[in-house]
Amino acid sequence: MPTPPIRVEWPDAALDGLAAAVERLADQATAADKAAPLNDEALFALAGHGQPAAHVAVWEAAGTLAGYGQLGPGASAQVVVAPESRRRGVGLALVQAIWEAEPAAEFWAFGNLPAAQGLARRLGARPVRELLCLERALGTGPALATGAIPPLPAAETPPGAVLRAFQPADLDGLVAVNARAFARHPEQGRWTRADVEVRLAADWFDPAGLLVAADEQTGSPVGFLWTKLHAADGSDASTVGSNGATAAPARGEVYVVAVDPAWAGQGVGRALLAAGLAYLAGRGLREAFLYVEGDQARAQRLYRGFGFSAVRSDIRYAAGKPAEGRRRGDGGGSSHGTAADTGASGGAVGDGREER
Ligand SMILES: CC(C)(COP(=O)(O)OP(=O)(O)OC[C@H]1O[C@@H](n2cnc3c(N)ncnc32)[C@H](O)[C@@H]1OP(=O)(O)O)[C@@H](O)C(=O)NCCC(=O)NCCS
Repeated sequence: MPTPPIRVEWPDAALDGLAAAVERLADQATAADKAAPLNDEALFALAGHGQPAAHVAVWEAAGTLAGYGQLGPGASAQVVVAPESRRRGVGLALVQAIWEAEPAAEFWAFGNLPAAQGLARRLGARPVRELLCLERALGTGPALATGAIPPLPAAETPPGAVLRAFQPADLDGLVAVNARAFARHPEQGRWTRADVEVRLAADWFDPAGLLVAADEQTGSPVGFLWTKLHAADGSDASTVGSNGATAAPARGEVYVVAVDPAWAGQGVGRALLAAGLAYLAGRGLREAFLYVEGDQARAQRLYRGFGFSAVRSDIRYAAGKPAEGRRRGDGGGSSHGTAADTGASGGAVGDGREER
């Protein structure tokens, strides 16, 4: 029997059942690939929160979702095909539809799986950005005593600053610090009050895991470190926090670290990181992980000094057109040293300083 042509649709996000069908598909792909195909921004946009995005879908004759793609702010795109619908041209059709609508679209390949590399080769796409996932073991007592796990550095708060947990009154200060720390960052720097609020309401949010470095005099935030707890299988759907999710946490993510450029170079980031890791270890988690840009040498040095090492790389691909004038990320050709619009779940570090 001849294969029917692949029909790509551009459904409305509010379409009945689209969000649920995509979440199901993403869960199946996560289980098959051991890497989540969509990041937080994509899931929030799909749920009608966060920044607006366009959606592409391919449906099976039976009405199930065969493949899904999203074109978000900054021409950032993501594509996933259901495991049982692969190698039938669905991925190719989704990417081509998105490139037809937005030739500058860049695609995230979380985990840069062999299939994504194959698809990129087939399309003549080229890597334009690398996001590394770094990890370190956590643990207390016997594991630390054997020396198998590197000890956690102490949190030495720099003079003039205090470390404390987030309070609701910090919201505007936190948004302002984030904007200054990520001023030249394509995605992270755009966070509005609403973007933060949607995360404060997420089921994985734990107020004790959002650490704030505040000016001792004024009490205003000068930096913050946001952690996120995940269950053992690593899927976003099973993240765990005080807003409602229930599975036992096993891994802790250093989700965002931001330091006001006015306070850069004074050890605020180190203090936040040490305190954040101590918090995660105190929750009894097995490991901590974070995302950092592949070209952020200084941030990587900081993390490696804290015992982190690279376990995965996410690649962003662009159409293989001439490179002149293109910028990294959204994309700025600058080597500015802030991080990422995220790996599978989030993640950014920044203090607004130049990198390299
Ligand atoms: C990557 C992904 C979207 C491909 O979807 P798909 O519908 O199976 O891909 P297609 O059938 O359209 O494949 C088109 C071409 O890509 C290449 N390709 C696809 N899967 C491949 C694989 N597993 N190994 C090698 N090449 C592969 C081939 O050249 C293929 O053409 P061919 O089948 O004629 O040889 C899918 O595997 C997926 O959802 N992966 C998880 C999410 C992800 O990595 N997304 C990032 C996309 S950049």
